[in-house]
Amino acid sequence: MPNIIVIGAQWGDEGKGKVVDLVTPCADVVVRYQGGNNAGHTVVVGKEKFVLQTIPSGILHPGGRCVIGCGVVVDPASLIQEMESLVRRGVSLDGNLYISKNAHLIMPYHPALERASESKAGRRRIGTTGKGVGPAYADKAARIGIRMADLLDEALFREKLEANVFQTNRLLREIYDEETFTVESILGPYMRYAGWLAPYITDTALLLSRWIDAGGSVLFEGAQGTMLDIDHGTYPFITSSSTTAGGACTGTGIPPTKIDGIIGIAKAYCTRVGGGPFPTELTGDVAEQLATRGNEFGSVTGRPRRCGWADAVALRYAARINGFDTIALTKLDVLDACETVKVCVGYRYRGEVLTDFPEEERIWHEAEPMYEEMSGWLSETHGLTDYAALPSKAREYLDRLSELVGVPFSLVSTGAGRTETILIDDAPLARWFPALRSLLPAH
Ligand code: GDP
Ligand code: IMO
Ligand code: MG
Repeated sequence: MPNIIVIGAQWGDEGKGKVVDLVTPCADVVVRYQGGNNAGHTVVVGKEKFVLQTIPSGILHPGGRCVIGCGVVVDPASLIQEMESLVRRGVSLDGNLYISKNAHLIMPYHPALERASESKAGRRRIGTTGKGVGPAYADKAARIGIRMADLLDEALFREKLEANVFQTNRLLREIYDEETFTVESILGPYMRYAGWLAPYITDTALLLSRWIDAGGSVLFEGAQGTMLDIDHGTYPFITSSSTTAGGACTGTGIPPTKIDGIIGIAKAYCTRVGGGPFPTELTGDVAEQLATRGNEFGSVTGRPRRCGWADAVALRYAARINGFDTIALTKLDVLDACETVKVCVGYRYRGEVLTDFPEEERIWHEAEPMYEEMSGWLSETHGLTDYAALPSKAREYLDRLSELVGVPFSLVSTGAGRTETILIDDAPLARWFPALRSLLPAH
């Protein structure tokens, strides 16, 4: 049974949640491997909409095992709220949610530090989600992070907390002129969270490896996207984790030799939320049309997402960094009303033409996109489930985009609902999960 990594190919919000939810019945386990509650993965089931933040998007299928891997940073208050809200809506978490002992905790001083540093950053503000994810990963790298297992050992938790509160308070008071924290104000609530979460905290790397050895199939669910990766993204306008394929191994404890395939999730156009370079960003009517038709507002913060045309240069880069075997292209229906559709095929920079995504911040800010323009299909693709039923111009667009990126498409999404999906026969996803065909309407 294949172990497949699912990765955002752009700047996040590509529709990873929809694809993971769709494929979950064909897998045995879904594991999140990085990020935290900065993620917002929307899953639409019938008339109901769920936004998952820390819990894997597989949780909505009864009996599906879901794991929060060691690479994730967990805000326990937010996680408990998410769990309670799911239970209230009839989702069972008993015996099917597992949290890594090694996952780091987001502490109350992390969002405070992030707010303080963002408020002083001026033009170089990242526009974070404000969840404290960056400072939590900074503590992890500085070896002063507090992990899930520490929650279960009050004396050790207190010792680490005391040292961190002492240091953080100095920073907050002396550098940022902000309010400070007391150990007791954190210890009490965190020990209560410990009581709540204890039954779920375990050695998830061992469990995953046993399940794989027993023939189980694991879906590795990425959060954010390739262009937000700490090493390979548009640094420093990125998130603080490894969002790319390698992160799936380090963030779970499963070796690369156990991975059978990698699928990138990309929108038929492109969005970005927060600050930072975005070469194909549009303003004006077309941007507004994409934002409105695509309902492009952040699932976590409600901020409007910036919109632009698909960027084949950046997508080809994402394919190279991650080794995509295939791509699931989402939100094709959002382009239905466009008279013309454009794809970026190169950047013009100071008289030069670049066709490989550059690694310098200076270039990203100045690069001018060079577009290939195609006429739009101006007819409804929303809800279509059959590739052959797509307007020929939509098929031409898909074929050209796939050709430019150099990766075959496995799935085209035509709506937020589970079945508003075209599964491409004989492409990698259908080969990895033959049962997927039976989950979608026959044609
Ligand atoms: P994620 O973070 O990658 O899981 O993506 P988000 O959930 O943040 O954003 C994707 C949004 O697009 C969600 O509101 C989905 O319900 C919605 N969506 C996913 N696929 C499609 C599609 O094919 N068409 C349309 N119109 N909406 C989609
Ligand atoms: P999903 O998983 C889109 C962006 C923020 C900001 C930058 C850093 O739903 O695709 P952070 O809070 O992570 O330190 O913010 O990253 N960002 C996302 N953008 N989708 C996300 O998650 C994101 N998670 C973080 O807007 O620009
Ligand atoms: Mg999202």
